[in-house]
Amino acid sequence: MTYRSLPKIELHLHLEGGAPPAFIRGLAREKKIDIAGIFTPEGGYAYRDFDHFLQVYEAACTTLQGPEDFRRLTLAVLEESAANGVVYSETFLSPDFCGGGDVFAWRDYLAAIEDAADEAERKLGITLRGIVTCIRHNGPEQAKSAARCAAETKGRFLTGFGMAGAELMGRPGDFAYSFDMAREAGLRITCHAGEWGGPDMVADTLRDLRPERIGHGINAAKDPALVARLAEEGVVLEVCPGSNVFLGAVAAWKAHPIARLRDAGVKVTVSTDDPPFFGTTMTSEFDMLAETFGWEEEELRALNRTALDAAFCDAETKERIAKKLEPAA
Ligand code: ADE
Ligand code: ZN
Repeated sequence: MTYRSLPKIELHLHLEGGAPPAFIRGLAREKKIDIAGIFTPEGGYAYRDFDHFLQVYEAACTTLQGPEDFRRLTLAVLEESAANGVVYSETFLSPDFCGGGDVFAWRDYLAAIEDAADEAERKLGITLRGIVTCIRHNGPEQAKSAARCAAETKGRFLTGFGMAGAELMGRPGDFAYSFDMAREAGLRITCHAGEWGGPDMVADTLRDLRPERIGHGINAAKDPALVARLAEEGVVLEVCPGSNVFLGAVAAWKAHPIARLRDAGVKVTVSTDDPPFFGTTMTSEFDMLAETFGWEEEELRALNRTALDAAFCDAETKERIAKKLEPAA
């Protein structure tokens, strides 16, 4: 069985991380940037481990030099998502890669991304919303610039604020100022935690940054009391099993805690994170869940409903998308 045609909701997708390698190679050629070292002989992205993944990711981003590049990137990413049945997607956008945190430059990048999202909605029937994401290893000061960009451009499209990057650098509380600024501006909050950090990192993130969703969060499964708390408080996990297995955060699909978390009552959702980096798609995530845990169509549909409930878009958009999730009569 392949779940390609099942309508899907994706909450955790890094826009630059969705860049097809051929797209990045094309930009590198156009701009005469030498990044041949980041590709395998077969043409995929080449990296050794998570730290190196972040370096390769940032090297790929050096080819994305202006709003027009991000417009083309957004279209390329959404084409792939739509081909896998995604009808609604939330994507992480980082001012760090879009003008370096300058609000005026950021506005131009965001306008180009929104423009592409509108075009994709018209042509492919996929709806996109954006979440500004600060980058943890760039430090708390740079995070404030990202939060300022987010606060200045909050709207129908730009609905959230979060943090990605090297999770083991610094503590969540170092970024509280930025998260407070974003929350006060009315942005919804998510944060990567518990991908590489332990249950303590998830607990500190909940305490200091007060997200309603956690990116990954899988290491919470190591602490039964924390699992019970996530279930009790209805914290939503944006789980990316293919990413976790590919990067080595989890040893194998069979060992992935998503089924245990779900069975303990935690609200789990499924996303791809950076699909071409991990050779994954939403279709293959669903296929692997069915194959590994025996989840059937109704259980996979439930993941989508949980994700749409937790989506950061407005109520009217949610209602419109919900109709797409209903099985055909
Ligand atoms: N940025 C892109 N992918 C990421 C991941 N899996 N973890 C943290 N930061 C990221
Ligand atoms: Zn991520």
